[in-house]
Amino acid sequence: MVSELIANNGALPESRADVLRGLGRHLTSRIRGQAHALDRVASVLTRGEMGFAHPRRPRGSFLFVGPTGVGKTETTNVFTGYLFADASPIRFDMSEYQLQKSVDKLIGETANDRGLLGRALHGVRCGTVLFDEIEKAHTLVLDLFLQILEDGRITLATGETLDFTGFYVVFTSNIGSAEVMRMVSAPFATVERTVLMRVCQLLRPELVGRITEKIVFARLDYATQREICEQLIGAERVRLGALGHEIEVAPDAVEFLVREGFHRSLGARPMRGAVERYLQDAIARSVLDGGPNGGRIVVAMGQDRLALDVSVTRQPLFEQHLDLDLERLCKRR
Ligand SMILES: Nc1ncnc2c1ncn2[C@@H]1O[C@H](COP(=O)(O)OP(=O)(O)O)[C@@H](O)[C@H]1O
Ligand SMILES: [Mg+2]
Repeated sequence: MVSELIANNGALPESRADVLRGLGRHLTSRIRGQAHALDRVASVLTRGEMGFAHPRRPRGSFLFVGPTGVGKTETTNVFTGYLFADASPIRFDMSEYQLQKSVDKLIGETANDRGLLGRALHGVRCGTVLFDEIEKAHTLVLDLFLQILEDGRITLATGETLDFTGFYVVFTSNIGSAEVMRMVSAPFATVERTVLMRVCQLLRPELVGRITEKIVFARLDYATQREICEQLIGAERVRLGALGHEIEVAPDAVEFLVREGFHRSLGARPMRGAVERYLQDAIARSVLDGGPNGGRIVVAMGQDRLALDVSVTRQPLFEQHLDLDLERLCKRR
């Protein structure tokens, strides 16, 4: 991308400019309840894509901090897929790098060992590297991060250098989430300040100072989790539709799924499981009971109001319309 810019005398190719213009909208359509975070994410990414970052540093770096299940990883997945042709971030879980020798695990121990980081990035020129739960990493691993942010490169045990200048680096952390959970009625600015203070107490200030944007993710209230539930139902309908099961979810079934999936401290994490499990179980039951061969499956609450029930409408479908619609939805996903 940056090389394209140089070849183009600093002008952004129009197609790429369009991609960047759509970035904010794309993030907003996928991530709920974190508008304050998305603006800042889009701003760093736009500057990064335009080649404004320091030439010997990563294109941009983030610390996403906040409680579990509120969209820290999902935001990383969404922007990486959007900017890098459906790619996923290269992810490292820092709970597996808590010991002194964890550095060797990452960059190799012997002259013929590139380590896990070296192997994962070998031959890859751009993308996102995600280090989850950074507070668990050993101090020597944190030193390595400092080097990545400061010099844009590290040296592997093999003597090769690993270049990070084409990458975004994302660190996530749950630091301060106990406080966030307790500060139910505090304004978000206060929550933000408290969390960032905890971050500065627990991580080295040089490291925190080197990160382009430190963003506190908010906890998700009921209304936001409900929106996420509806979004997940939409995605599940597309997925099941592609398998030939046209489904409709009645409003009372949506209510049921929101109630089942809502979780105050685990965020939207259980919601995806609830939507998938209940909808898939309902369809599976209906198909195994001799149900539908080309009909719309309606998922609604059963008579006893305790479980989801399934009924099959045997109206002929306007197949072509539905196919077209599904194709469009799949593309948008
Ligand atoms: N703000 C959000 N908007 C949309 N979906 C979300 C959001 N937060 C969480 N989710 C859903 O919950 C799942 C877990 O969220 P994730 O981003 O992995 O949590 P964490 O903040 O712990 O990294 C995601 O895969 C996504 O389906
Ligand atoms: Mg995560």
